[in-house]
Amino acid sequence: MVVDNKATITYVQLLKEDLVIIRLVPKDGLVPDYQAGQFITLGLPNPNEGGKIVRRAYSIASHPENRKYIELVIRWVRKPLPGRLTTQLFNAKEGDEILWLKPVGKALSINEILPNGEKDNRRIICIGGGTGLAPFVSFAQQLHAIGDKREIIVLHGASYVDELSYKELLIDLENESKIKGKDQWNFKYRAAISRPQEWFNRSWSGQIGRVETFLRPKENEISPLEELVGDKITKENTMFYVCGWQGTIDGVMDFLKPKGFVTEHDKRSDGSFEVKYESYG
Ligand SMILES: Cc1cc2nc3c(=O)[nH]c(=O)nc-3n(C[C@H](O)[C@H](O)[C@H](O)COP(=O)(O)OP(=O)(O)OC[C@H]3O[C@@H](n4cnc5c(N)ncnc54)[C@H](O)[C@@H]3O)c2cc1C
Ligand SMILES: NC(=O)c1ccc[n+]([C@@H]2O[C@H](COP(=O)([O-])OP(=O)(O)OC[C@H]3O[C@@H](n4cnc5c(N)ncnc54)[C@H](OP(=O)(O)O)[C@@H]3O)[C@@H](O)[C@H]2O)c1
Repeated sequence: MVVDNKATITYVQLLKEDLVIIRLVPKDGLVPDYQAGQFITLGLPNPNEGGKIVRRAYSIASHPENRKYIELVIRWVRKPLPGRLTTQLFNAKEGDEILWLKPVGKALSINEILPNGEKDNRRIICIGGGTGLAPFVSFAQQLHAIGDKREIIVLHGASYVDELSYKELLIDLENESKIKGKDQWNFKYRAAISRPQEWFNRSWSGQIGRVETFLRPKENEISPLEELVGDKITKENTMFYVCGWQGTIDGVMDFLKPKGFVTEHDKRSDGSFEVKYESYG
């Protein structure tokens, strides 16, 4: 039988009517151990279903070194029917109780060791579509907290500029990289807006199109991502992590497969791979 733990919602930041950042603190005050890239299962009894507990998975945006709270970024699913849990979550207030199951998930763990036993020092490129950014906010904060020296690039795709959750945090991390120097902290963040023609996005001057367009070579055969890193992206020098719609994973693989990249799911017989992903399914 599933035993739910209890937590208090301690912080609610509505980014827009259907996008929220929330923080939870377990009732016993002890934030569970977890790894960057994992998800937690939240639950609430649903009054429309006779009090039956509806549970759903949410990627953790906070990082394991943060022992104060668990943070999540959640979309209110409204179509075709209001989502069973998110509709309740969007009515929740600071101080309300919520149920949770311990963080799990292996799909997006940060790779540390290569199959030959050597340290994985490849460049890390994280590609998040919409709320699929969450695991990479955890990655970025965790790698920063432990002083990881690898090159890290976070790419975020959203339909609208006000959906660029964590923009400030990620820009601050990039600015710190510029000040400290790449040998201390090597981090860059860029975003892509997929509906640039809409009036609300008129101030956008960055990458346009869905996030995978960062990988599309331009006329000079170099992609915007390669321009950003100033290097040819190869399976020897780069490890990709992708989270979002299956279309985003497929779009990324359309560019990476011809370069010989394989996913962990389809790893080679020697155990090697260059892409980890989690799709919305
Ligand atoms: C590993 C993992 C991590 C995740 N991380 C996040 C995250 O960080 N942030 C986030 O926002 N989400 C995340 N999700 C998604 C989340 O788990 C839920 O799936 C999502 O919040 C919707 O839950 P819900 O109960 O509100 O919707 P549900 O009630 O489950 O509805 C899901 C969809 O089905 C439709 N639907 C429901 N009933 C019917 C019906 N009778 N007929 C037709 N259509 C119907 C709904 O309209 C909706 O589109 C994650 C999922 C996984 C698997
Ligand atoms: N790990 C997980 O399983 C996980 C994690 C987070 C969220 N979710 C769930 O995913 C759902 C929606 O997420 P969201 O609201 O964050 O995304 P979103 O804001 O709807 O979309 C984010 C970006 O992905 C693009 N996109 C939309 N559909 C696509 C497709 N089929 N193929 C490729 N790109 C696509 C969008 O482009 P356009 O502007 O062109 O639409 C936009 O640029 C929610 O139900 C959420 O609960 C699951």
